[in-house]
Amino acid sequence: MYREGPQTPRLTHRAFDLGDAEAFFRLNSDPEVMKFTGEPLLSSLKQAAEAIECYTDFERYGFGRWACVQKQSGKVIGFCGLKYLPDLHEVDVGYRLKPEFWGRGFATEACAACLDFGFRILQLNQIIAMVMPANASSIGVVRKCGMRCEGEVFYEGIPVLRFVKTNASVSGSVDPV
Ligand SMILES: CC(C)(COP(=O)(O)OP(=O)(O)OC[C@H]1O[C@@H](n2cnc3c(N)ncnc32)[C@H](O)[C@@H]1OP(=O)(O)O)[C@@H](O)C(=O)NCCC(=O)NCCS
Repeated sequence: MYREGPQTPRLTHRAFDLGDAEAFFRLNSDPEVMKFTGEPLLSSLKQAAEAIECYTDFERYGFGRWACVQKQSGKVIGFCGLKYLPDLHEVDVGYRLKPEFWGRGFATEACAACLDFGFRILQLNQIIAMVMPANASSIGVVRKCGMRCEGEVFYEGIPVLRFVKTNASVSGSVDPV
């Protein structure tokens, strides 16, 4: 089970714990952050603590969304990580950062490291990302990480762009990006 995620020059990744409830609440209750996620805003610190306590992806699948921690400050700046989607039988890369950390390349650094972790450590064949068409900065992140757009699909009733990256080391697979 990988409760510790990848390291990058500026970031570490680890599972959330209850001590992160305040940071998790601030992130997931900010309308600007949640605008393109399709998820409801958290409305209390208690809800944030419950979400952390009830998160079972690491136990069930061995990996999940990690807290994204800035090495320099030790602060949780958001999350990034991999999520198994049972309905699609796919693994999805996702990220969400506090606005004061946007535009500094953190999401690209974190996303690239999580993709690499998925391919090298977890030996996944491919990883997808689903991004709302209006979410320009997130589209910038997946493109810079070498993900290719396969077109628009509906996911949970919402139109999203589906991006994919395949594992270059899997025999016979060719990543065109
Ligand atoms: C998506 C998100 C994580 C991006 O974080 P970030 O730290 O700003 O991303 P980065 O700085 O690593 O890279 C963003 C890239 O997109 C580009 N970009 C940003 N806004 C853009 C815009 N409006 N139009 C086009 N490109 C844009 C940036 O210029 C950057 O590319 P560059 O380094 O070549 O300049 C952040 O905006 C966020 O947390 N949003 C809310 C949650 C969310 O929507 N998550 C994704 C759900 S799919």
